[in-house]
Amino acid sequence: MPEFQLTVNQKVQRINAADDLPLLWVLRDLLRLTGTKYGCGLGVCGICTVHIDGKARRSCLISIKEAASGHITTIEGLSKNGDHPVQEAWKEAKVPQCGYCQPGQIMQAAALLIEHPTPKPKLVASTMSTVLCRCGTYPRIKNAIELASKKIRS
Ligand code: FES
Ligand code: FES
Repeated sequence: MPEFQLTVNQKVQRINAADDLPLLWVLRDLLRLTGTKYGCGLGVCGICTVHIDGKARRSCLISIKEAASGHITTIEGLSKNGDHPVQEAWKEAKVPQCGYCQPGQIMQAAALLIEHPTPKPKLVASTMSTVLCRCGTYPRIKNAIELASKKIRS
C-alpha cells in the first residue's frame, strides 16, 4: 500500500493506506480522531465535515490521496481548549441536543465565518441547512453563529 503524508491538526502523519480510502476513515480508524462523525457516507448529511485549508469539506467524499496535499483540521484541532469563538458561542447558546451532528455543525459554522465574518441570515440558513440535524437545533445554531460573529470581531 502506498504511504501518504498528511498534516492533521498541525501534526504530520505518515499513513499507509489504499489511495481511495475516504479521509473520514483515516481520521476515525487510523488516527483515532473520532470527533468527526459518520452519517450517510454519501456527501449528503454534512456530519463528517472537516476543514481542508480552512474550507469546509465532507470527509466521507475525499480520498486520502486528495486530502494529502492540504492542511486538515478536525474538531479536535479547531482550538486547544475548546475555546474557539464558535465553540464558546455554541456553549452560551446551548446548541446541542443529542450532540451527534454537532462536530459537523461547528466545523461548518467556523468555515462559514472564515469566509464571511458577518454572514447574512439567508447565508447562515442556506449554509447550515447542508448539515443535517435530526434534533432541529437550527434556531440555536443561528443564534450561536450571530454570537460567534460578534466574538470574532471584538
Ligand atoms: S457522512 Fe459525509 S456527508 Fe454524510
Ligand atoms: S443535535 Fe441531535 S442530530 Fe443534531
